[in-house]
Order: sequence, then structure tokens, then C-alpha cells
Amino acid sequence: GAPERVSPTGAPTDAPMSSMAQQGEYLTTAHGARLTNSDQSLKAGARGPVLLQDHHFREKISHFDHERIPERVVHARGAGAHGTFRGYGSATKLSRAGLFAKDKETSVFVRFSTVLGSRGSGDLARDTRGFATKFYTDEGTWDLVGNNIPVFFIQDAIKFPDVIHAGKPHPDREIPQAQSAHDTFWDFVSLHTEAQHHTIWNMSDRGIPRSFRTMEGFGVHTFRLVAQDGSTALVKFHWKPRLGVHSVVWEEAQLVNGADPDFHRRDLADAIEAGAFPQWELGVQVFEDNEEQSFQGIDLLDPTKIVPEELVPVQPVGLMTLDRNPSNYFAETEQVAFNPNNLVPGIDVTNDPLLQGRLFSYLDTQITRLGGPNWNQLPINRPHAAVNDMLRDGYHQSAVHSGVAPYRPNSLDGGNPFETPESEHAFIDYPAPVAESVKERARPQSFDDHFSQVRMFWLSLSEVEREHTAQAYAFELGKCWDETIRTRQLRHLFAIDPALGHAVAQGLGLPDQEPTVAPAQDVQPSPALSQVGGTWPV
Ligand code: HEM
Repeated sequence: GAPERVSPTGAPTDAPMSSMAQQGEYLTTAHGARLTNSDQSLKAGARGPVLLQDHHFREKISHFDHERIPERVVHARGAGAHGTFRGYGSATKLSRAGLFAKDKETSVFVRFSTVLGSRGSGDLARDTRGFATKFYTDEGTWDLVGNNIPVFFIQDAIKFPDVIHAGKPHPDREIPQAQSAHDTFWDFVSLHTEAQHHTIWNMSDRGIPRSFRTMEGFGVHTFRLVAQDGSTALVKFHWKPRLGVHSVVWEEAQLVNGADPDFHRRDLADAIEAGAFPQWELGVQVFEDNEEQSFQGIDLLDPTKIVPEELVPVQPVGLMTLDRNPSNYFAETEQVAFNPNNLVPGIDVTNDPLLQGRLFSYLDTQITRLGGPNWNQLPINRPHAAVNDMLRDGYHQSAVHSGVAPYRPNSLDGGNPFETPESEHAFIDYPAPVAESVKERARPQSFDDHFSQVRMFWLSLSEVEREHTAQAYAFELGKCWDETIRTRQLRHLFAIDPALGHAVAQGLGLPDQEPTVAPAQDVQPSPALSQVGGTWPV
């Protein structure tokens, strides 16, 4: 069985959830009065009109009218599962976070998603997949809100609305780009060369996973771990699926999406129901936390770069097993609210400008999506650590707070709540030095190379993966009807690698193009990037 979940008040969280759920054997109104009939409205005479007085009719229809909440502005389509994370003990020297302790078990909830499709869209779209994990630790909730692709389209969060506006359905017809014109997507990608790295991952087989169970996950940004003695390390988080990394081919994706648009969510739920619990190892690449925050010329704060695993191996720190399906999609998978702000003592953020913007965006969007500031009280979002936050009131407040002094210090509620001394186990924002005091809206020079790692990815693929990738570019660019945009993107493909450019040009029936920049020299393949040649796991 799942470990008991404890609410802020100390009661098992299932208690408030079930107390709000349907009780008793008799049909009632929402205020509990029993009803004789819920099939006929109250009319004046047998044939109407219907009376305004019919409270039950109005309550039933009105509640139904308000059943939907807005879908997520991105990652609207998803599937979730409960499970457990068990620490190996290998990260305890790096981080004081309790969840990494040997054999320590922490409950988790994971939501996998596509990014661009609406809530009812098909699972097999060529897209990035979200891989968001909520760890309900004793020291507070930690959310690792990652993707199945280790780099992102943009380097600064201020560009997020732009990239999403370019990728969402065309505003005129609202037909998703997968079925219609791709002009805005390729316009953005070709005008923002930093997007080329993420895009090649999308065009590779990674863009159409076989199953959520066979996807890697990545924290993308570099995070900072803080150890008990105050020492720090920079890390990149990786989820490695026990089943290996597998994809479908494009023709399969097309057929499956037509025949069973719920293929991925069905696969996850069926596997768990059948007892074939999917597992991932969590691992970290560890870097010295020095002033440069870079590794062999790779800026660790640039979310469009990876560090090849051959250079810095991924060290396993724990194992996650998903073993329980949600019992109610809305209450769990739809209402779950992940947030990169949710950190625990021992895990902290870095200055990655994409991450910094995310720290604002999730909290902000959830105030609209979940109707106010109290979504932390929803059962799926409740921390398993005790909460005493002095936050009060607001839309959808369901707690009945005791005491009269939600401020501190106070002399009325026994001085409670108390602050935790730094020497004890509190979250302390790491006092990272601020490099410059000048306000700038500039891109750091160390973020400027947009092509070398794209070439590295291409060179790391096996022959069949390269074929698929070139075919995907040709197919997708074939849906871009604007000649200027198509040619501009094609020139970037020649800059990544002439063989890629040539294969795509042929597929499009276009002549070879001049590369935008000369292809990067001395690029070594990274075998771990290939699904076929990759080293992990067997
Ligand atoms: C949702 C990942 C960048 C804004 C999500 C979700 C994931 C994710 C996995 C779905 C969470 C769920 O299942 O509920 C990432 C990754 C990023 C990234 C890995 C980059 C490395 C950004 C940026 C912004 C942003 C830069 C904004 C500045 C959002 C918003 C949601 C979301 C608004 C919807 C949240 C909700 O409605 O609950 N993201 N994201 N993301 N993301 Fe991101």
C-alpha cells in the first residue's frame, strides 16, 4: 500500500478528500436535502413552462455549466501516476535533502504531457513531452518539472510567450500545426537559431516516443545542491527509464494517432494496472560550483546546451517506481500544480535566465487555472510536511484556521509559528554572488554558439535515426508554405551538417543552399544521444 499521506493539520489527506466526496446512499441536493426525482424538472402543469422555483434543476444545470476549468496554457494534454522514490544514499554527500538518504522512501506523483496540443489532442503528435515529478518529502514538496528533451528552444524566459505563440495552432483557423500550415513555427525557429538544438531533437525519433515508460527525463537547467556542511555542487538531473528509450516511426505515429489518440495514456494506465510498474533511475551529472559556472567551454547556465555523458557520467541517486493510477483524473492529473519554485533544503536554483522566469510563471498561471491562490489545499497538491504558512482567506479557501494572530512575532497565539534557526533544517537561499551590478538586456556571449551541439547530436545518431530525422524535417518543412522561411531554415540545416541539409533539400525538391554559418569543426559524437547506439540501459 501507499504510505499514509498527512495533511497540514496532521490528518491523513484522504480524510478531507473523502469527506468532500459523495456520501450516503440517497440522492440529495448540494446542501444535503433528499430528493424524490432528478429526471423531471418542476413545471406548471404536466407540459410546462418550467418554474424558476426549481432549485434542484438550477443547481444541477448551473454546477454542470461550470464543470470545466481552463486547460493549461501549455502541456494541456497529459496523464499521471502515483509512485515512490527510493534514495540510494549516493547523493547524501552532495545534498542535505532527506529524500536522497539510503532507502528513504518518498511518495511521488508524475504527470507526463505533450506541450502544444489541447487537452483532447492525440498522444502521438511530434512534440516535446513534459515529465513533471512532485516529491512529497518530509521537508516540503520538491517539484522537478522537466521534459524528455534535455535542451530548450530559448535561452531567456522573456521569449516563452513568443515561442508558444509560434507553435500553437494558427490564430486564423486554429488548426494545429501538425495538420496544417507550419509557417509560424518555422518562422520562429529559423529566426531564432538558439532553437535549432531543441528542434533537431523534436525532428529525431525522440519527438514520437513509443511510450511514456520509455522516455528519458531531464531537469534541463543546471541546479545547485547544498550539502550538510554548506558545500555546493552544480548538477543536471536525468531520469533513465529501466525499459530503455524507444520511439515509434512516423507512419506508426500517424496510424496510432488515428486509431487510438489515447495510446500513451492507455499504455501507462494499463501497464500499472497489470503490475508492470514503470521505473526510472534519477541521476545527476555533477559539476564544480565555481565562478565561471561552465564546463569545458559549455556555459552551464545556457539551457540550450548539454554536457555529453561521456565527459561527465550520470551518477544514479535513486529509483522511482510508478505503481498506482489516479482514481479521479480531474482531482489528480488535472488539478495537480507543478512549480519549479517548490524546492526543499539542499536543492536550489541557479541564475539560468530561463529557470529564473519559470519561477514566476507557474505560480502566476495557476492562480487563474485553479481559481485563486489556494490551490495548495487541493488534495493532490497538499504537502506531506506540516504547513504553517500564515496565508489566509482568498478564493476557494477550505481551511478553517484557528488562532487570531496570523502574523509574527505575536503575543496572542503563543508566538507561534516559530522560525527555524539556520543551523537547523530550514530552506536557505544560497547566497550566490551577483556578478555585475549593471542592468542589461543583453545575451551573454557564452550563449552565442547555436550550432556545434546540434551538429554533435546529428553526428551521434545511427544511420537509421539520421534517415528518420531528415525525413521528418522534409515532411514538416514541406508544410511550411512560405518560400523565404523554408529556405532560411534549409540554410541552417546546411550549417548544422551539409549531409542533413542535402537530404532535406532533396526531400523538398529544392537545390542545395549556402550554410548560414560554416559547419562547426572538431565536433565529437556523443554515443549516449543515440537511442540505438546509446549506452543506457540494456
Ligand atoms: C507547464 C516543463 C519552460 C511556463 C509545464 C509542464 C512541464 C513544463 C513538464 C507541465 C506540468 C504539468 O504536467 O502540469 C518545462 C521545461 C521548461 C519550461 C522543462 C524549460 C526547460 C517554461 C518557461 C515558461 C513556462 C520558460 C514561462 C516563462 C509554463 C506554464 C505551464 C507550464 C505557464 C502551465 C502550468 C500550469 O498550468 O499548471 N512546463 N517548461 N515553462 N510551463 Fe513550462
